[in-house]
Amino acid sequence: MGDIVTVIGLVKRFGDMAAVDGIDFAIREGEIFGLLGPNGAGKTTMISMMSCLIPPSEGDIVVDGASVNKKPIAVKQVLGVVPQEIALYPTLSARENLAFWGRMYGLGGKALSSAVDEALELAGLADRAKERIEKYSGGMKRRINIAAGILHKPKVLLMDEPTVGIDPQSRNHILGTVKDLNSSGMTVLYTSHYMEEVEFLCDRVAIVDHGKIIAQGSLDELRRVVGDLDIVRVGVDDTLAPEILDVILRLDGVEKAERADSTLEVLASDGGAALAGIVSALNAAGEKVHSAEVVEPNLESVFLHLTGKSLRD
Ligand SMILES: Nc1ncnc2c1ncn2[C@@H]1O[C@H](COP(=O)(O)OP(=O)(O)O)[C@@H](O)[C@H]1O
Ligand SMILES: [Mg+2]
Repeated sequence: MGDIVTVIGLVKRFGDMAAVDGIDFAIREGEIFGLLGPNGAGKTTMISMMSCLIPPSEGDIVVDGASVNKKPIAVKQVLGVVPQEIALYPTLSARENLAFWGRMYGLGGKALSSAVDEALELAGLADRAKERIEKYSGGMKRRINIAAGILHKPKVLLMDEPTVGIDPQSRNHILGTVKDLNSSGMTVLYTSHYMEEVEFLCDRVAIVDHGKIIAQGSLDELRRVVGDLDIVRVGVDDTLAPEILDVILRLDGVEKAERADSTLEVLASDGGAALAGIVSALNAAGEKVHSAEVVEPNLESVFLHLTGKSLRD
């Protein structure tokens, strides 16, 4: 299928600072596209421009053929938005909140009440629909927030970090909901700084940092950025003799060996096999092994490889 969202040379400046600094990507109809990046990367700013809340400083976003600069109303009709900040009235019930949002989308009468019923079902909260939202847990509020974003059955759903700070049960429910909505044909843009969520959900991903895309592609393509190498991490004494690195580098399948303080980091084609060799080399040299782990290539290691810092910073 073709592209349903195209982002072209997008820039957003706040004073001298470019929060979004020249971004291009496209979302294919029917996919879950991930925007992965640490706090401050510019994800929310991008979502705000896409949903026509703030205008781009430069560039454009075309959603289902309509430009955010020229046809914001047409763009809004195609989109559902689940904002990072919860947008609900605490003293109204879940049903009343959803009915409010439904009327904002122009729904009324039978269409409105059946849209609200469906959305409550989807949120898994039909049995608590009459309770005031203020009595809900953070996770339940987020589930209602998502329900509010899909009342009008949008073609494209924008979700801005929908699982931050909630309990694991609600988180799993939300991840399942995203998959279900996508199976029913909805295209999803999912932003997160959680690598695991993006790996679980997304077909293709753009990794963003400081307002720029530093890598994009399918999960497999991104993992290939670090090559097909595992990371072996071994906790050692910080007095480790430097010669031991040469010994490790000569082991089968080992490509790179570095030490930072009391951690030895080795890139190897088969992490498990390399670990055994590394531990016996350390033992033979009389060095202590405090801990050991093998990490397969993932988006975290891609981010680490490209920026030299952790996503969790
Ligand atoms: N309205 C604003 N005025 C000034 N700076 C802003 C505004 N909105 C966001 N920023 C800044 O832009 C950068 C990107 O923010 P944001 O898009 O919220 O990142 P993310 O959602 O990835 O955490 C941050 O440095 C933030 O402080
Ligand atoms: Mg944000």
